[in-house]
Amino acid sequence: MLLKPEQRQKLDQTDDKLFYSFPRFVTHVDKNFIQQLTDLYRQRLQPQTRIFDMMSSWVSHLPEEMEFAHVEGHGLNAEELARNPRLDHYFIQDLNANPKLPLPDRDFDAVLNCVSVQYLQYPEAVFSEIHRILKPGGVAIISFSNRMFFQKAIQAWLDGSEATRIALVKSYFQSHPGFTTPEIIARPTEVPNFLQWLGMEGGDPFYAAIAYRRQ
Ligand SMILES: C[S@@+](CC[C@H](N)C(=O)[O-])C[C@H]1O[C@@H](n2cnc3c(N)ncnc32)[C@H](O)[C@@H]1O
Repeated sequence: MLLKPEQRQKLDQTDDKLFYSFPRFVTHVDKNFIQQLTDLYRQRLQPQTRIFDMMSSWVSHLPEEMEFAHVEGHGLNAEELARNPRLDHYFIQDLNANPKLPLPDRDFDAVLNCVSVQYLQYPEAVFSEIHRILKPGGVAIISFSNRMFFQKAIQAWLDGSEATRIALVKSYFQSHPGFTTPEIIARPTEVPNFLQWLGMEGGDPFYAAIAYRRQ
């Protein structure tokens, strides 16, 4: 067992569906973060492949010029997902209530999860599902920053520093033997806190953990 029961707790223990019941047409991280993520997708994704954007919203941050064979979306708010121009299809499912994805084995070339991994209470089960739906050789890209709805993040995330959060996401991949050793991209912020408080852009740190499904 990777996490202790108390590390899976959230400050707000009400149903996640309630928290996400109204749409938020915002971006949860700044332009600099999004640019780095889109560039990473440009490098690691192949055109005309099958993509699953897990815990998505009205934006997927995919490179505009890239076309995919299919982009499947998932999240908790139907209005947000309906407005996402990149999704060919989507479904609503609370992964903390049911981590089993209604998707076939070995069906996706890539699974993406942007700034949402901190909300998963049973990450081992979800990462096992990510592995199951990936094709052999397929890639999972988990990105995160230091922003969050803190009342909905798990205690293990709240207790951690940025460095321990990287180790946490790494351990999620390592909880399944079928993933390659995760590669980490870590770009902590270079903008001092007081300049961020004064509204200076570009301050959101960028972290990504990337692993591939072995054969
Ligand atoms: C901070 S938003 C990020 C959305 C999107 N990936 C983006 O980059 O804008 C977190 C997302 O996680 C999803 N989410 C949160 N808790 C969830 C849960 N228990 N089950 C499934 N999805 C959840 C919500 O639908 C929400 O859209």
